[in-house]
Amino acid sequence: MKKQLLISFFALLSLVCINAENNRTIRISTDNIDLILQVGENGRLYQTYLGKKLLYERDVRDFPWNVYAASDGSVSKRGWEVYSGSGNEDFFEPALGISHSDGNLSTILYYVTSYNQPVEGGVETVIQLRDDQYPVDVILHYVAYPKENIIKTWSEIKHQERKPIILSTYASTMLYFNNSSYYLTEFSGDWAKEAHMSSQQLQFGKKVIDTKLGSRAAMHAYPFFEVGLDQPVNEHQGTVLMGTLGWTGNFRFTFEVDNVGNLRVIPAINPYASNYELKAGEVFSTPEFIFTLSYNGTGEGSRNFHEWAINYSLKDGQNNRMTLLNNWENTKFNFNEEILVKLMKEAKYLGVDMFLLDDGWFGNKYPRKNDRAGLGDWDVTQDKLPGGISALVKSAEKAGVKFGIWIEPEMVNPKSALFEKHPDWAIKLPNRETYYYRNQLVLDLSNPKVQDYVYNVVAGILEENPGVAFFKWDCNSPITNIYSPYWKEKQGQLYIEHVRGIYNVLKRIKKNYPDVPMMLCSGGGARCDYEALKYFTEFWCSDNTNPVERIYIQWGFSQFFPAKAMCAHVTDWNKAASVKFRTDVASMCKLGFDIGLKELTTGEIAYCQMAVANWKRLQNAIMDGMQYRLVSPYESNHMAINYVSKDRDKAILFAYDIYPRFKEKLMPVKLQGLDSNKQYRVDEINLIPATHSKLKANGKIYSGDFLMKVGLNVFGATNLRSHVIELTAQ
Ligand code: DGJ
Repeated sequence: MKKQLLISFFALLSLVCINAENNRTIRISTDNIDLILQVGENGRLYQTYLGKKLLYERDVRDFPWNVYAASDGSVSKRGWEVYSGSGNEDFFEPALGISHSDGNLSTILYYVTSYNQPVEGGVETVIQLRDDQYPVDVILHYVAYPKENIIKTWSEIKHQERKPIILSTYASTMLYFNNSSYYLTEFSGDWAKEAHMSSQQLQFGKKVIDTKLGSRAAMHAYPFFEVGLDQPVNEHQGTVLMGTLGWTGNFRFTFEVDNVGNLRVIPAINPYASNYELKAGEVFSTPEFIFTLSYNGTGEGSRNFHEWAINYSLKDGQNNRMTLLNNWENTKFNFNEEILVKLMKEAKYLGVDMFLLDDGWFGNKYPRKNDRAGLGDWDVTQDKLPGGISALVKSAEKAGVKFGIWIEPEMVNPKSALFEKHPDWAIKLPNRETYYYRNQLVLDLSNPKVQDYVYNVVAGILEENPGVAFFKWDCNSPITNIYSPYWKEKQGQLYIEHVRGIYNVLKRIKKNYPDVPMMLCSGGGARCDYEALKYFTEFWCSDNTNPVERIYIQWGFSQFFPAKAMCAHVTDWNKAASVKFRTDVASMCKLGFDIGLKELTTGEIAYCQMAVANWKRLQNAIMDGMQYRLVSPYESNHMAINYVSKDRDKAILFAYDIYPRFKEKLMPVKLQGLDSNKQYRVDEINLIPATHSKLKANGKIYSGDFLMKVGLNVFGATNLRSHVIELTAQ
């Protein structure tokens, strides 16, 4: 009996030991990626591996400690600390900077415990770290989505010090790489020049991509990047890290190559002017950083993101989207009920699902006749639209289309009844001259009263007019004159609390009106992140609807966002391009129009009607299928992209000649993603009425194998010409 007890005791003890041992290696895996973390002899947590998934569990368990960082004797003690605090022996950029309540600036975190739990689509790993000298905890979260090869990670910081602590750096995570070379592709822009891609090699030292714009945060830099490992970023081959931060405010990506040639990548909220005071017991949650590693170039990485977004992140990811006719480019502020009713009928005639009323419908004391007045006063301008929104909803119903409406609820014109009543609701310096961007100020969403007000803009419209089917939510100004009357002497909280305030409002809207789709717009595409897209079904990529520019802009955004989330409208920008060319470019994304039919000939209208019908018929392949970027406009005078439905029975090829050179050598376009063993019928669609396809392959049947290995001759030598080709498995 005694012996048996002894055996059981030792069995139990060994179990405890094994568990403890197991806990020391933490493996975060998708189907193709392994991120391996290890607790060092010193009790701190280090990244030992991030790369291709390893085959054998045993290799993971026995992964050689500190294999990369130890390549130089002088730094052999320094490892790749997973959440490195300032003041330790690593002299490079930390993830966390704290000024403790006693003024000490160092934080060193030790592993406490970890566990896994299933979550929708994947597995979440939660790891607790704690400082041994201060009651400060950091909880690291990693959600691995195996099928999509996406890892989403964020951190929580909390403490029980007697007085508040000050956070000066608070990254979402830190990732390390050991490669021969690193090449960054970043996305930059401006109004009407969104998401332009440029690349550079990362050498010793730091490269920072950040924004300080506050609200229209991504006007100049976008919250996503690509890093080619061992070679420049390539569409079709090579290893690439692709990452994006879900934060609708100031962000900062730091890329630092250290003394031994290792790279660390630190995605974070930009701590600029944001020393954050954290009270005891309060949890500071960082934004989610979402990344993938592709070993077959950015094409595969983008498809990982598209799949993940549609399955788990984008609002109504699985639902269809509404085609629409917008009135902004067509009328600007100059409309009345009669003009709008006519446009609703035009929307129906085009065959789109909805009419979207843009800016200029509100304000009575200071009617919104231009962008100098009215923002903040969300009552319909009586003498412009005497029947109010309800009459417009009824007219839309009568015309047979849905009705959507534009708002910009986070902003105020000084010339508004709202500003006169609540000047302290605007972000504005009390003691300096005010700087206006588009004649407006940003409302202080960190103030709960302002949050209620903004929520009620949407709730008010929907309660009075349940027939309103869609919102376009605009945001035209960055935060100017940074000062919140609400936070008084704690201005360091403002940039962060402002964004949290926006999320509070959006959460309430989503909870109470879950079925109303919304478009995110920010003077074009200056808001485009996956946290906002939990609340928005789509975003407006750019006010630049010149189809040539759009080819580049859409190419850029498609690196991270599915076509379903990207709105593209046909307008009269660049009339040198045919209506067909303009429509074919918009058809690669969520199709819409912003043009009066009076500007189009009967033939052009017939073309648009057909293109809308085709888009609707094929939207499951375009919106929900897999996207393959085939020919880059950055590398040629052409562009081609194909979409393939999940069952690989349907594919759509879009091909564009932009400005080809004289007698340029034209190569066939090799499709991707088809089933090699299926036979596909090739049909050119979106043909100008009464014309015939000149493509030799038109009407013929080819195997997927042939189409992917040999391809189709779709490029030509004429400027601004496009082809849309439907491939149907027989
Ligand atoms: C900027 C948007 O990007 C445009 O589409 C339009 O809605 C205007 N604002 C309206 O002011």
